[in-house]
Amino acid sequence: MKSYYYDESDPSSYQHDHDSGIEVTPEQLKQIGVLYYHLDNMDDVNKLAKQREYKNRDQISLSSNSFPGGQEALKAKLDTFIEEHLHEDEEIRYIVEGSGFFDVRDSNDKWIRNKCEKNDLLILPAGIYHRFTLDCDNNVVALRLFKDEPKWIALNRPVSADNQYREEYLQSIKA
Ligand code: LAC
Ligand code: NI
Repeated sequence: MKSYYYDESDPSSYQHDHDSGIEVTPEQLKQIGVLYYHLDNMDDVNKLAKQREYKNRDQISLSSNSFPGGQEALKAKLDTFIEEHLHEDEEIRYIVEGSGFFDVRDSNDKWIRNKCEKNDLLILPAGIYHRFTLDCDNNVVALRLFKDEPKWIALNRPVSADNQYREEYLQSIKA
């Protein structure tokens, strides 16, 4: 995985790298509650899921050749994933094949782009604003792990000011 600040001044589409050249370390990600692992063995993914008491999972395949419903349907899906949002539960994302961008907001509300590739695993805390898109290769297979029932709900920014999960997240990253 490569992590860096997203270059907002680059007018190209989200699917381009937008690499500002300012790198972000795993330690910096940790400070905003984002944990990174590179696991090339499925047993290790399962172990981590068990440790953190994950009970559900699904696999999503986003590819320009094979998406059910074709290009238009894939584009509609990507349009929802690129909307800045949060979830009310912690979630694990594991790249099985291909690559994609997970963008997360830092504590100053700047975008950090995580270019995730095969065997990269990210844990996103509940309440963090983020978004996802494909890179120009247009292909990813990702495992999505959920603690309880899959909460498919994405709450787009801004969430209500008294959202408990957002408040707890903000508390958790205070120095
Ligand atoms: C996710 C991305 C799509 O939560 O935001 O998987
Ligand atoms: Ni999300």
